[in-house]
Amino acid sequence: MRMRPALALDAPRLAWIEQTQPLSAHWGEKGFAGEVANAASRIWCWEENGEIVGFLALRLAAGMCEILNLAVLPASCRQGIGFRLLAHALRDARARGAETVTLEVNVTNLPAISLYTKAGLAEWGRREKFYNGTDDALIMGIHL
Ligand SMILES: CC(C)(COP(=O)(O)OP(=O)(O)OC[C@H]1O[C@@H](n2cnc3c(N)ncnc32)[C@H](O)[C@@H]1OP(=O)(O)O)[C@@H](O)C(=O)NCCC(=O)NCCS
Repeated sequence: MRMRPALALDAPRLAWIEQTQPLSAHWGEKGFAGEVANAASRIWCWEENGEIVGFLALRLAAGMCEILNLAVLPASCRQGIGFRLLAHALRDARARGAETVTLEVNVTNLPAISLYTKAGLAEWGRREKFYNGTDDALIMGIHL
């Protein structure tokens, strides 16, 4: 078990994990490859038995960090992996000079909202009918 940053060759595995979780961002293989190549981005991966089972992607610029994508394989959920990824990402963002971390989440995504709340994030705003013209988006954030 270990945490590590994603490499370009991880893009197919990350895209596959994302497909198992409909509520993730759906970047696809090209999207992940682009983020790995972007100096402002970082994708943290959690490995078990040599295979990635969860990831968290963020961008950091001008002291502001935004979490853009997060998913854990269904078979590996509820084992603390999402929390470990998020806690690690917050520590790393702080060490790299971030003062705030924000993200956007569908108001109906209760597991993710519960995870973010457990990690100390709070509701900072709301975009009405943001998803498919029906569900609101919550903007959640934390001052580091
Ligand atoms: C959200 C997600 C990453 C959580 O990953 P996970 O590894 O299962 O989370 P953890 O086991 O670390 O759980 C940490 C906390 O999250 C919350 N949580 C996780 N799954 C939950 C569920 N099914 N129902 C309610 N709360 C849940 C709980 O607060 C939990 O703390 P607890 O164990 O003390 O109750 C995972 O469910 C996922 O991939 N979801 C689909 C993709 C997604 O929604 N991404 C975020 C888009 S904004």
